[in-house]
Amino acid sequence: MVDSLKILITGGAGYIGSHACVVAAEAGYEPVVLDSLINSNPIAIQRVGDIIGEKPVLEVGDVNDRAFLDQVFKRHQFAAVIHMAGLKAVGESTEQALRYYSNNVGGAMALCEAMAAHGVGNLIFSSSATVYGDAAEMPVSEAAPRSATNPYGMSKLMVEHILEDQVKADQHTQQHFWNIACLRYFNPVGAHPSGKIGEDPRNIPNNLAPYIAQVAVGKREQVSVFGDTYTTIDGTGVRDYIHVMDLVDGHIAALNYLLKRESGFSAWNLGTGKGYSVLQMIAAFEAACGKPIPHQIMDKRSGDIAECWADASKALSDLGWRATRDLEEMVADAWRWQENNPDGFGQ
Ligand code: NAD
Ligand code: UD1
Repeated sequence: MVDSLKILITGGAGYIGSHACVVAAEAGYEPVVLDSLINSNPIAIQRVGDIIGEKPVLEVGDVNDRAFLDQVFKRHQFAAVIHMAGLKAVGESTEQALRYYSNNVGGAMALCEAMAAHGVGNLIFSSSATVYGDAAEMPVSEAAPRSATNPYGMSKLMVEHILEDQVKADQHTQQHFWNIACLRYFNPVGAHPSGKIGEDPRNIPNNLAPYIAQVAVGKREQVSVFGDTYTTIDGTGVRDYIHVMDLVDGHIAALNYLLKRESGFSAWNLGTGKGYSVLQMIAAFEAACGKPIPHQIMDKRSGDIAECWADASKALSDLGWRATRDLEEMVADAWRWQENNPDGFGQ
């Protein structure tokens, strides 16, 4: 009976996946992690064990490796899969397009084939607000047109279409096997309040929050603010930053929903519905760490949009989920993690 509560979390050693393991265990599920560790450290899983009292099983391997997937699905009987494994650096994806498609699209397909072969139809996929491209209207709802401007974004969009078609084919043939949710993350920041797990970028951080945190802890000199002439509150880019604990809570809400539904396809935005500018983020971090964060206005980053925030009402009405943690809590938790672990999990 316990086996029926096992949840496979691919990419579970990563930033969001490690937090998902914690809330899954706290919600009564047994997380099993599958990760190649290409962008993560197994110490994260150890720390998850410290938080929840039992180290999750870690299956080290590639989600593209079908034979390995078969072994994992034979060893465990899963009630559902949360598919987070993927490469996520936008800039890198423009230089290594084939690698991104192969890993992110090929990985999702290999996983689905293995799920079908082993009779597991419940799937939550880590999608992104990037699938909205440069949306014409804010806040952006799930019904907005989708597009992509780089291979990373396109890989997410392609997987969404593949999963949607998979459910349509299923309904067409009256099999009602697939039960799928695409969760479109806005900008996850913060860390578990214990300060034991958090975001640990391998190289120079691409994203704003980990960059600010590394400047705050003295690892980097100053934050480059990418442009101050956008038509936003202060000219800098505006995003919907969401606490990673709220984000992973959204997965549990989606999981509970799927486990009550026979089959189908849904997409939900996971955001707060509120946007903050780059300068507001820097000010919030300054307040949290009690020191100034050196920063300088630079040129715009190519491909950036001015602003993006979510219409998160569908997740509230369907799942009963909403983000509850404010910006102050996001940066306080991000700072606690960074201050306690200046070198992340260590390389
Ligand atoms: P992360 O890099 O910390 O975690 C991803 C994990 O997947 C890593 O542990 C990595 O080792 C693993 N992985 C990658 N390719 C793999 C493969 N082929 N087989 C097995 N494991 C593999 O990233 P994250 O921030 O935790 O993101 C998790 C997911 O959420 C990703 O799919 C990402 O695209 C998506 N997402 C992230 C953000 C964000 O801002 N962090 C926003 C939107 C969507
Ligand atoms: C990035 C990804 C996007 C992904 C999203 C969520 C890019 C181009 N896009 O978008 O695909 O879905 O993360 O994880 O990487 N900024 C600075 N200085 C920095 C870093 C960022 O000023 O050093 C600014 C950016 O211009 C932007 C804001 O901070 O206005 C947030 O940037 P970032 O954290 O990279 O997220 P997104 O641009 O939303």
